[in-house]
Amino acid sequence: MSTRVLTGITTSGTPHLGNYAGAIRPAIAASTRPGTDAFYFMADYHALIKCDDPARVARSRLEIAATWLAGGLDPDRVTFYRQSDVPEIPELCWLLTCVTAKGLMNRAHAYKASVDQNTAKGVDPDDGINMGLFSYPILMAADILMFNAHKVPVGRDQIQHLEMARDIAQRFNHLYGRDYFVLPEVVIEEEVATLPGLDGRKMSKSYNNTIPLFEGGAAALRAAVMRIVTDSRQPGEPKDAEGSHLYTIYRAFATPAESAAFRAQLEDGMGWGEAKQALCDRLERDLAPMRERYQALMASPARIEDILQAGAQKARKLAVPFMQELRQAVGLRAATPAAAKTAAKKSGKAARFVSFRDDDGSFRFRLLAADGQELLRSRGFANPKDAGALLQRLQSGAAQDLLQADGTVYSVVLDGDTVAQGPQAADEAQRDALLAQTRQALASLAG
Ligand code: TRP
Repeated sequence: MSTRVLTGITTSGTPHLGNYAGAIRPAIAASTRPGTDAFYFMADYHALIKCDDPARVARSRLEIAATWLAGGLDPDRVTFYRQSDVPEIPELCWLLTCVTAKGLMNRAHAYKASVDQNTAKGVDPDDGINMGLFSYPILMAADILMFNAHKVPVGRDQIQHLEMARDIAQRFNHLYGRDYFVLPEVVIEEEVATLPGLDGRKMSKSYNNTIPLFEGGAAALRAAVMRIVTDSRQPGEPKDAEGSHLYTIYRAFATPAESAAFRAQLEDGMGWGEAKQALCDRLERDLAPMRERYQALMASPARIEDILQAGAQKARKLAVPFMQELRQAVGLRAATPAAAKTAAKKSGKAARFVSFRDDDGSFRFRLLAADGQELLRSRGFANPKDAGALLQRLQSGAAQDLLQADGTVYSVVLDGDTVAQGPQAADEAQRDALLAQTRQALASLAG
């Protein structure tokens, strides 16, 4: 059983060393683990909440995509896309908005912090707060629930958002009577490095204490490292390695043996200047080849665009049928079953049941999608009447509740018996897509 892991990065800035070590690098490593089905995306709709500079949003989307790729992400292995290339996400966001209590959003830390700042300044509590910020957690829930992610690796500041996503999913499932959404789990990776910035506080754009990852090349990296604060101990004096930011950053890139050696040198009195030089050299060893790939990618944005378009297509293969299913669930359907069929036919989306006699003489039927893809195949019956009775039962609309997924297949289970089965899927993502198509087909045939 594969685990779907999903995470996004808001595209409102240029990636720094802390973003790389704390989020991008561990996510790339996770994507290569067997049994992991990774979804990584650029949260560019989220960027609009805090950034109204179009040039910056555009540039950041490109830089963050290039950083993922330069860092070694394999876009064939994962689903790598921009949020805004999947219009089903904002559509789902609206469905979720309508089941989310305003009171839940009132409690969101990010929104409350802005209100508190306004109160402290003595201005209107909602000064400068847009509705995007207020509903931020709902869009994030849509990102996650759209793909039924099991695990969402994020920073600690996002834990509450994951709790809200679960709340919203549960509310929707409860209201519409079925487990449409998986309840996602937050993943806080304890071993992952949180890097200190130049001043020793957590490296963050908002503290203006970042070390650039690729921007400005090796020279900018070196210049930043030279500005990392240290204590005033002189060369020759033993240093407190454990308490030094230099060592923390070094350790995040080095092997245990390299770190131990660096630490011993510091404790032996290596000067800070020399230590900074050693840190630069160590960082360069990892970053120089990536920087080259990054610069090549940034020089050919068409390549990035192609990769992202392919990723969006992959994502929409799941999102489009799932969204159709969700629209049905909430009542956004054609006015009558006949109209649904006509509409489906017009758009070339008519699914159908086809009965046939198998080589072994038994009677079976298949459910076919409009494009002829087999969605279900019944078990064989000696008597055609029995096959017909089952077919009628599945057509009655009850079949949707009888669908069960198991590994890379799904089946219709009636009174404990498997009476029909879907095709063998390549993986669980494909199985989910087929399952959603099957639900959609059954709904269009019901009545
Ligand atoms: N809110 C996240 C952050 O600022 C970015 C994000 C948006 C995200 N949608 C997501 C992360 C979905 C994980 C899953 O870090």
